[in-house]
Amino acid sequence: MSAEIKGLGMYVPPRVLRNNDLEKFLDTSDEWITKRTGIKERHIAEEWDRASDIALPAAEEAIKNAGLTPKDIEAVIVATSTPDMTFPSTACYLADKLGCDNPMAFDISAACSGFIYGLTIASSFIKSKQFNNVLLVGAEVFSHLIDWSDRTTAVIFGDGAGAVVISRSEGDSDILSAVMSSDGSQWFALHCPVGEKLRMKGKETFRLAIQSMGKASQKALEKAGITVDDIKLVIPHQANIRIIRALAERLNIPEDKVYSNIHKYGNTSAASIPIAMYEAYKEGKLKKGDYVLLTAFGGGLTWGAVVLKF
Ligand code: UT7
Repeated sequence: MSAEIKGLGMYVPPRVLRNNDLEKFLDTSDEWITKRTGIKERHIAEEWDRASDIALPAAEEAIKNAGLTPKDIEAVIVATSTPDMTFPSTACYLADKLGCDNPMAFDISAACSGFIYGLTIASSFIKSKQFNNVLLVGAEVFSHLIDWSDRTTAVIFGDGAGAVVISRSEGDSDILSAVMSSDGSQWFALHCPVGEKLRMKGKETFRLAIQSMGKASQKALEKAGITVDDIKLVIPHQANIRIIRALAERLNIPEDKVYSNIHKYGNTSAASIPIAMYEAYKEGKLKKGDYVLLTAFGGGLTWGAVVLKF
């Protein structure tokens, strides 16, 4: 029995904030942001948009693309650090908005690694025969947590949602291995106290991101019993183009096999990998039967990697 990714969906709010717009109210420049991060623009939700609002269109598209209806979904998981409320979970709101039939619903708080954690949980539900169809959404409105006078974080993050439906199947498309870790002693590197704004120690986070994603990726490949040469596409968390390039070098994989769309969306935290998967699939870079490596890193610290046959 396999856990197959059957449908993909994504949504970003229509409002675009370009580097030139940031120049108007921050001591920054398009040149600095492009060179240091690879980001050119990001999408920003309205003040009243909640995570479940932007998760909804992504989830609807993923369910439709899987050939299912919301009634077929038995578990709804939302990976988010910007939930609608402290409780109930964003997943409960989303399941209701979708018109699901009383599914299990809960959120994952693992910052930018939330989608990787979620994929592993969803796959375990499928393989233990608990459920046949699980919806997993990474949905973030980080713009609500940003101190718009802090140039070290305001230029980095964007809002968006990416969704996948993971279904039980008998084919060979499968989630083959997962490695997930955390180190709470490094919480201060990237955190957001309740009711306050996001804080990040960029340099430390940068260094730890490359190390941990590199190690997790190698372990996940070993666990899956394949090598980096078998991988058709690496889809890393989109935090910084320099991190992505350093990861490619560390894994000894050519840059054209490492997907990036950070220039369009910035860092959308738990949404970045499913948004990238969606676009890679639409662009024909991610195909059925391909071995794919996903890896992420974020606040917690948390990190992980997944190898799958798409
Ligand atoms: O998603 C979860 C994980 N998050 C990450 O992985 C983020 C990892 N970190 C990073 O991506 C990078 O560290 C940043 C993009 C945040 C910063 O890049 P950096 O190359 O590490 O810059 P820095 O913090 O060392 O700053 C270099 C200079 C400083 O000026 P001085 O001290 O050299 O005069 C900063 O004040 O750049 C300055 N600076 C800026 N200048 C223009 C910092 N932010 C900006 C800015 N515009 N937005």
